[in-house]
Amino acid sequence: MDQNQAKQAAAEAALKYLVPGEVIGVGTGSTVNFFIDALAAHRDDIAGAVSSSNASTERLKKVGIPVVELNDAGELSIYVDGADESDPHLRLIKGGGGALTREKIVAAASRQFICIADESKLVPVLGTFPLPVEVIPMARSYVARELVKLGGQPKLREGFVSDNGGLILDVAGLSITDPRSLETAIGMLAGVISVGLFAHRGADVLLLGGPNGVRELTA
Ligand code: A5P
Repeated sequence: MDQNQAKQAAAEAALKYLVPGEVIGVGTGSTVNFFIDALAAHRDDIAGAVSSSNASTERLKKVGIPVVELNDAGELSIYVDGADESDPHLRLIKGGGGALTREKIVAAASRQFICIADESKLVPVLGTFPLPVEVIPMARSYVARELVKLGGQPKLREGFVSDNGGLILDVAGLSITDPRSLETAIGMLAGVISVGLFAHRGADVLLLGGPNGVRELTA
C-alpha cells in the first residue's frame, strides 16, 4: 500500500461518522480530497458542507455537494480534516496547505473532529514538521523576532498569500512538549492571525491508514 492508498483508506473510514441530514465540516489537503470524492456517493445523506478553503469549496461543488456558510450552519456534527503531524494525544500541527485559520474556526464550531491521515503523520513529539503561523503582513518581522525568542527558526513561505490575505511563517526547530502553552503563547502575539497548533481543540478521533488497514485512535 502506497501513501496515497493509505490516505484514501483513512478518508473512506471517516464516512461511518456521517450524521444523516446534518451539515458537516470539511477540511483541506490531499487526504481530504479523497474524502470529498468518497462523499460524493453520500451527498443525499447530508444537508451540505462547510468548507475550510476555496480549494475544497470548488471540489465539493464539482461533485454536487452544497456548500453552506458557517454563519448559516450553526454547530456542525463532525469536522473531517487531515494533519501534518499528530502526537499520541491527538494534538496536531496543521497548515501545511496554508488553510489553518479557517480550519481552526470550522474545527472549533464542530462537535467532533475526525482527523484522517496516513500513519507517517503520527509522531511522539510535535515539531519536526515546521509549525505554520499565519500573520497580518505588517506584523511579519515583529512576529518572526518573537518566534526566535521562543526557540524557533521562522521562514517566510515565499509567494504565498492565504485565503484571508495573511502571510505564513513556517517555524522550524521546535520540540513541542507542551503544545497547549505554545499555542497560547504564539496566539497572543500581536499580528498573529492563527497558529497551526491544534492542542486546545485537537482531534477527537484519528484514523490512520497503513499497510495493515486503518487504525483508530481516540483522544
Ligand atoms: C491544510 O492547511 C493542512 O492543515 C492539511 O490538513 C494538512 O497539510 C494535511 O494535508 P495532506 O492531507 O495533504 O497531507
